[in-house]
Amino acid sequence: MNEKQRLDSSQVTPSDKKSEKDYSKYFQAVYMPPSLKDAKKRGKEEVKYQNDFKISEEFRGLGNGKKFLIRTYGCQMNEHDTEVMAGIFTALGYVATATAEDADVILLNTCAIRENAENKVFGEIGHLKALKRERPGLLIGVCGCMSQEESVVNRIMKKHQHVDMIFGTHNIHRLPNILSDAYMSKEMVIEVWSKEGDVIENLPRERKGKIKAWVNIMFGCDKFCTYCIVPYTRGKERSRRPEEIIHEVRQLAASGYKEITLLGQNVNAYGKDFEDMEYGLGDLMDEIRKIDVARVRFTTSHPRDFDDYLIEVLAKGGNLLDHIHLPVQSGSSEVLKLMARKYDREKYMTLVKKIKEAIPTASLTTDIIVGFPNETDEQFEETLSMYREVEFDSAYTFIYSPREGTPAAKMQDNVPMEVKKARLQKLNKLVNEISAKKMMEYEGQVVEVLVEGESKNNPEVLAGYTSKSKLVNFRGPKSAIGEIVKVKITKAKTWSLDGEMAEEALEVN
Ligand code: 5AD
Ligand code: SF4
Repeated sequence: MNEKQRLDSSQVTPSDKKSEKDYSKYFQAVYMPPSLKDAKKRGKEEVKYQNDFKISEEFRGLGNGKKFLIRTYGCQMNEHDTEVMAGIFTALGYVATATAEDADVILLNTCAIRENAENKVFGEIGHLKALKRERPGLLIGVCGCMSQEESVVNRIMKKHQHVDMIFGTHNIHRLPNILSDAYMSKEMVIEVWSKEGDVIENLPRERKGKIKAWVNIMFGCDKFCTYCIVPYTRGKERSRRPEEIIHEVRQLAASGYKEITLLGQNVNAYGKDFEDMEYGLGDLMDEIRKIDVARVRFTTSHPRDFDDYLIEVLAKGGNLLDHIHLPVQSGSSEVLKLMARKYDREKYMTLVKKIKEAIPTASLTTDIIVGFPNETDEQFEETLSMYREVEFDSAYTFIYSPREGTPAAKMQDNVPMEVKKARLQKLNKLVNEISAKKMMEYEGQVVEVLVEGESKNNPEVLAGYTSKSKLVNFRGPKSAIGEIVKVKITKAKTWSLDGEMAEEALEVN
């Protein structure tokens, strides 16, 4: 499908959304719904890099005198997409508001990773109905990962007709057109491309903070783990060119940002899609290492593509932080096989060993899913034993949630929900135990803290993070905000550390 057909098929809006009977037939005729089947295809088409995003004359001032609100669910990729959309809103003349009652446009930037993430969004869509009734001029939009799912779009069309716009993760740059269509049409505007778009380099951004910034290095995922919806909602792997990334990081450094997080769903596959050169994440990190910015992180890693060269580069240290988030998902090789993770327990352990040998101070965190279809008690115990063996600093833990359209959702599952819940509890107990033990090791140590601001609970206290993402609270001058200071840890808690500023740090300020 070419660009023209794609737009033609998606821009038309249905004219009779009240008549539910003919509804689906009508929609099929006039717009292109998202299709998980199409999203699964991985074509050979070259990724096109575009540098020509601009707000066209017809949309200038579209938002003058109006306010926007974006509610963000899910991962950092979504948070960063919200910054891009906020940039587009601002370029259109809108100003941001934090209250729904004030807003002229409300967007829900959604996450599809688990059912409870989706339930939250449907709850919120329901709440917004009353607001829309009070103020029919309010525009409500649903975007992000959920809008890439056919079932979600169908449900919104059928049950939530107060929604004005649905657009997908590949359509963010089309926000001005979508808003303009929504103002002109009384009907729901739906624009969801199932196939990924091009990489657009010059989108505006309204970054949330002045200290830490996110930088996309790649989009999409080709791994197709059997439980995961991301390869469908985010499309195929497309890497940004290194020179664009380096330029963005340099600019952020020059404007005073202290910490950069390089973002991608599967950052270790960075560069694999380049046809003209051999260039991977290790090469990119080796260049970013030379930029004058205090801290550089990256997320999320896939153990399968984590190569020796990357470890070698990370071991050079400097601004490359010694904290690696390395999702393992399960400690059982059999379950990993069913998950199609393409590594087993031994391979993961070998990788951990290599990382710890090359970077002795490295701390590892992870993601774990319990209750994958038919996971046995023994297999779950293997996850516990592996957790103990690696001694992760902490973990995000989840109960498996079937996602429609993924291979795992078709697997028969004999594990009752109570068993899954009990496993999660048991795992969390272990995670907390080891976290608490690791936190205790900080007592008496001096750590470097990037100070982010006042503590949420006490404005007299400052709060910031260590290179390993440990939250530290301490008393210090407000001038330390935005700086990296040395703090002596006086007390460890399970999830945070209390400390006092070390003397050299006072001199720094
Ligand atoms: N059910 C539960 N957890 C999931 N994750 C991804 N898909 C699912 C699912 N279907 C978890 C994985 C991943 C993290 C972002 O979310 O652990 O690493
Ligand atoms: Fe959620 Fe994944 Fe989408 Fe992020 S990319 S918002 S984790 S579904």
